[in-house]
Amino acid sequence: MNTVKTVLELRAAVARARAEGKRIGFVPTMGNLHSGHVALVTKACQRADFVVSSIFVNPLQFGANEDLDSYPRTLAADQEKLLQAGCNLLFAPAVTEMYPGGTTVQTRVSVPELSQELCGASRPGHFEGVATVVSKLFNMVQPDLAVFGQKDYQQLAVIRAMVRDLNMPIQLIGEPTVRADDGLALSSRNGYLSQAERAIAPAIYRSLQAIAAALGKGERNFQALMTEHRKRIVDSGMRLDYLEIRHADTLRAATAQDRELVILAAAYLGSTRLIDNLQVHLDAPA
Ligand code: PAF
Repeated sequence: MNTVKTVLELRAAVARARAEGKRIGFVPTMGNLHSGHVALVTKACQRADFVVSSIFVNPLQFGANEDLDSYPRTLAADQEKLLQAGCNLLFAPAVTEMYPGGTTVQTRVSVPELSQELCGASRPGHFEGVATVVSKLFNMVQPDLAVFGQKDYQQLAVIRAMVRDLNMPIQLIGEPTVRADDGLALSSRNGYLSQAERAIAPAIYRSLQAIAAALGKGERNFQALMTEHRKRIVDSGMRLDYLEIRHADTLRAATAQDRELVILAAAYLGSTRLIDNLQVHLDAPA
């Protein structure tokens, strides 16, 4: 696996693979890779002949008081994991390569409706930063397909809308969340948790599962379910950002008629912000 740091080298390597008739797969990441990322690369390898991954901690998607500076940077370990997973090329640019004119870039990509609520409400500008960097990376790599984790559910919805609205000829694949044995969704930010916090963290997924089970049994009082489980998460020792039951595609508030739902949650443990979600398909009433 080659690692390149410039757009010029990236384009040359991808052009060579394309000239050999290879189908190009792409997995963008911010590094500090765990088994969840490895699953994305493995999926890309199944669906494409030449897999490019990127590692870039994108300043544009971090708020002023967020963890941009402390975000874990573990390039050597990441390279090893990507190599093992079958990745063919790693693009690991510096900030100056991605944003040569500085990060106050003039052109930004925004997907307003899907970006305002949920994580967008507590992280203003976050999804504009994500959509901007992902569209730049898509233009640099020009992949046939790209694989994203479903753990960042709203992010995937934003990117799907961007690809559709801007006619980007890229197939998007969403991969299921990889979890620890106790249900906690794998995330690079889990590394920030103390031992005591790590023991509390699975409470989020327990609530998502309990809500999904209640919905499956026919419960449609969404407000009551959300109220009960917001309290449970707070009682477990977390500071809740949101717990919502939404339509799986539009992310609008769920109605009793909806069949495709997603339960989404974000909560803080100390200063660490964790997110998770669970999709629920409900059968039509008999
Ligand atoms: O999900 C992530 O790691 C990032 O948001 C992404 C998609 C690589 C864009 O920086």
